[in-house]
Amino acid sequence: MGVLHRLQVPLVALLSYTAIAQKVIDLGTKQWTLSSPVYNISVPGRVPSQVHLDLFREGVIPDPYVGLGDFELRWVTLTNWTYETTLDGLDSTIPTWLLFNGLDTFTSIEVCGQHVASTNNQFRQYYFEISDILKSCSTTPDLSINFGSAVNITADIASEPGQEVWPPGQVFWPGGVEGVFEFPNRQFMRKEQSDFGWDWGPAFAPAGVWQPAYVVQLPGPAVHVRNTLLDIYRQGQLNNLPPDQNAPWIVNASIDVIGSLPSNAKLFIEIMDIKNVTVASGAMQNMTSIGSTITGSVVVDGETCQLWWPVGLGPQNLYYFKITVMNGNESLVSITKRSGFRTIVLNMTPISESQLAQGIAPGNNWHFEINGQEFYAKGSNFIPPDAFWPRVTETKMNQLFQSVVDGNQNMLRVWASGAYTPDFIYDIADEMGVLLWSEFEFGDALYPVGVEFLENVRQEAEYNVRRVNHHPSLALWAGGNELENLELRLAAALDPGNDRWRQEYEQLFLGVLLPTVFANSKSISYIPSSTTNGYLELNFSLAIPMIQRYDNATKGSIYGDTDHYDYNSLNAFDLSTYPVGRFANEFGFHSMPSLQSWQQVLSPEDLHFNSTTIVLRNHHYPAGGPLTDNFHSPLHGMGEMTLAAQRYYPVPNMADPVANFSAWCQTTQIFQADFYRSQITYYRRGSGKKERQLGSLYWQLEDIWQAPTWAGIEYDGRWKFLHYVAKDIYQPVIIASYLNTTDGDLTAYVTSDLWSPATGVATLTWYDYNGTILAPPSSVPFTVGALNITQVLQTNTKTIPYDLTKAVLKMNITATGSLPNTNDTKTFKHEFFFHALDLSKANLQDPGLQLEYNASTGNFTIEATKAVAAWVWMDIPAGTLANFDGNAFWLVPGEKREVGVVVKSDGSGGKWVEGVRVRSLWDNTQS
Ligand SMILES: *[C@@H]1O[C@H](CO)[C@@H](O)[C@H](O)[C@H]1NC(C)=O
Ligand SMILES: *[C@@H]1O[C@H](CO)[C@@H](O)[C@H](O)[C@H]1NC(C)=O
Ligand SMILES: *[C@@H]1O[C@H](CO)[C@@H](O)[C@H](O)[C@H]1NC(C)=O
Ligand SMILES: *[C@@H]1O[C@H](CO)[C@@H](O)[C@H](O)[C@H]1NC(C)=O
Ligand SMILES: *[C@@H]1O[C@H](CO)[C@@H](O)[C@H](O)[C@H]1NC(C)=O
Ligand SMILES: *[C@@H]1O[C@H](CO)[C@@H](O)[C@H](O)[C@H]1NC(C)=O
Repeated sequence: MGVLHRLQVPLVALLSYTAIAQKVIDLGTKQWTLSSPVYNISVPGRVPSQVHLDLFREGVIPDPYVGLGDFELRWVTLTNWTYETTLDGLDSTIPTWLLFNGLDTFTSIEVCGQHVASTNNQFRQYYFEISDILKSCSTTPDLSINFGSAVNITADIASEPGQEVWPPGQVFWPGGVEGVFEFPNRQFMRKEQSDFGWDWGPAFAPAGVWQPAYVVQLPGPAVHVRNTLLDIYRQGQLNNLPPDQNAPWIVNASIDVIGSLPSNAKLFIEIMDIKNVTVASGAMQNMTSIGSTITGSVVVDGETCQLWWPVGLGPQNLYYFKITVMNGNESLVSITKRSGFRTIVLNMTPISESQLAQGIAPGNNWHFEINGQEFYAKGSNFIPPDAFWPRVTETKMNQLFQSVVDGNQNMLRVWASGAYTPDFIYDIADEMGVLLWSEFEFGDALYPVGVEFLENVRQEAEYNVRRVNHHPSLALWAGGNELENLELRLAAALDPGNDRWRQEYEQLFLGVLLPTVFANSKSISYIPSSTTNGYLELNFSLAIPMIQRYDNATKGSIYGDTDHYDYNSLNAFDLSTYPVGRFANEFGFHSMPSLQSWQQVLSPEDLHFNSTTIVLRNHHYPAGGPLTDNFHSPLHGMGEMTLAAQRYYPVPNMADPVANFSAWCQTTQIFQADFYRSQITYYRRGSGKKERQLGSLYWQLEDIWQAPTWAGIEYDGRWKFLHYVAKDIYQPVIIASYLNTTDGDLTAYVTSDLWSPATGVATLTWYDYNGTILAPPSSVPFTVGALNITQVLQTNTKTIPYDLTKAVLKMNITATGSLPNTNDTKTFKHEFFFHALDLSKANLQDPGLQLEYNASTGNFTIEATKAVAAWVWMDIPAGTLANFDGNAFWLVPGEKREVGVVVKSDGSGGKWVEGVRVRSLWDNTQS
């Protein structure tokens, strides 16, 4: 009884639809003025927008991203700005509200000269009744929103007596570098933390109405839906624990309204497939109505609906859920959300006896399960795609997510110190099957724990947890970035024996955020910190159900996920320096963007490696710590990239200074890609080792601006070497070599993340760099198990009969297997080159590269006609956004490689094809 089955009588037929009219005015359609009395500026403004964007559009300031705008435009953020409009055409006898989905950040709001409210949280939704003000207003009412300077206001908050002092003693970041690249005191504001600067981004600290805003007029009993929670889970499911996959689904809907709900209000639900054909409908049960929130749930038979899967693991089935609020037989309002049926759990349960018996190290699991299945999470970290969110378009995000999917990634970690992701981005992720590990906006600091601050955070968390919970792409909630592994350890080192810091951390991350997730969602797991050793105990009968393990570890046991940075490039390919954990959620090294990106923001005289503007756009602190306030130290980011390039590759030596600069940018990208590949293959191989490693998310997917950063995709969407290499190494079945740099032990493994075994042959061929095959290739047949590895080579560089400066080993595999949730047999191919670590000593010679374009297929063909080509790169001219299906590869002579291309936007009318150039490492050393 009460279970919704397929094809009940559609609900629509039973309802009388007399939805009561509400009047909603989008404030984005109004004329706005943006002004600063101090600077005597008054220009047209927009909603949603931000001050910098409006000033730029109106010609008051240059493009903030050009040159040193990051420093030169600081005056904009150190002053107050007012956005003003006229609220004409309102009937002042009707109850009226202002509704803001996002104000950035410190505001004072007035209507008709009367104070309405002040706000201080970028991430909250605010709504204020203004009926009385409208009634008493004798003129056409004005709405004015005054934005204070976040930099000044946080400085004031920081100096309040008794305010939180972090880090203890303020010894870690005393002005120094932070004073140049970042504004201090970000932990005192609920605003995008990276707005004050980050090591990969600028510090613009923008202000404005950054999300849509409305006037809502509600005659009679009308209500306006301001937020909707939809939680779909298996009956009996508890957060963080794998549910029974045979249990029916529960669909819980909870609607937040403006206006008053009638006491007998009820909810009805209609579930439709993607073609809007009703698959189930009925009255919701277990209704509760508390304040302006009404909640109900229904049981849905598992047969009724098809599962949603991440890309590569099955189809992305989506359904519409129409929820109607009924007053008796009258429909008050209805809302439709698109969602899907799936369970996603971060399984952190203790390693079981049967897992131990399979050779898995003791400790805890730390991996994701989709619909009850373990899978390998492949992806990267997503940061704010722009310092100014209002100019992040759907087109740009569609292109970016297409690159994610084309790059064989199935998960992104949405990093914790940007902004909660807008729904349109989750919608794209739902459609494309990209899981979004989502985080609350706290990172690399400890935060105040005053009553007001915590209540402000609770409201922010509640709004956002409810807003996004229906997206099947939502994979996890994490409290914040690098807290347990970094900030708590820092606290323990700086203030030994003082328990205060951990207690305060628990107050916020276990006492406020965890209960907000658990009270609103049973379908999503929660962890307090992105990198964590997990829980000692999860017990839902405790007031706070999670007791953290922290560093209470038993030797030999493995508990959590890992975060790894090592800027000493000497260690880059020493596998023993990589962490052994269950999941790698962050790792990386920075590189230069391409010449084409630099040309967007630099004047021609700045197009050299260490130009002042480039050095000042590199915000990676000197490795000596932020106190080493010396940007010309070889330990600064520019020096680290230079050293790494010199250490492992022949460095560019081209006569044309701009071409040489471009080649240098590329060499830093080659090191970056090489280093990430080494780590990704190592982590993926861990799926078959004792650590049962099941995830690799590198730092970072994309750029916020044009600068030297850890990104694999540049600000305008252009792929660096890294994104191509990650695409290659994130294929389901790969081969890779593993060198022990200490004793010369050399192995190769095939790694597969398919859910069934694959069989094939590995072919290993030694080549002289001149292209001669040195010995008959050896063939090794293999079977690799589901989510497992198999070894195909065991040797030692000391016993290899070749001099590695003269010889290179090409390994390739062809395997057959099936993708998850399909029965079709598919062929998987992959190749990998083992070579001397230091390619500047290898006998690279002119590969005689030839490039052809075939207009009828739209494909390019590349051939090395003379010798082995290392790091072949096809470069796309500025003005065209396109990516090849492969790039940044090696070629042996006699092999032709045909490469397809996806054009995302083209300003050249197709002429770009003629501007494509192909080069290899060797070509960059020729003047
Ligand atoms: C903010 O502080 C700066 C100095 O730090 C000052 O010049 C500026 O006038 C202040 N702005 C406001 C709005 O108080
Ligand atoms: C600046 O804006 C803040 C927030 O709206 C307000 O509290 C403050 O009074 C304003 N200061 C000036 C000088 O307008
Ligand atoms: C189904 O309905 C939704 C709105 O509820 C609409 O956006 C969508 O275009 C419709 N799809 C089809 C296939 O008609
Ligand atoms: C309603 O509540 C009862 C008692 O808690 C529970 O057994 C039942 O499953 C609930 N029904 C739905 C549809 O959630
Ligand atoms: C450390 O962990 C063990 C269980 O693994 C637990 O019994 C013990 O109480 C913990 N110690 C502390 C100080 O939390
Ligand atoms: C850039 O400057 C750093 C710091 O002075 C230096 O170590 C490095 O060698 C320079 N790089 C190049 C390519 O000139």
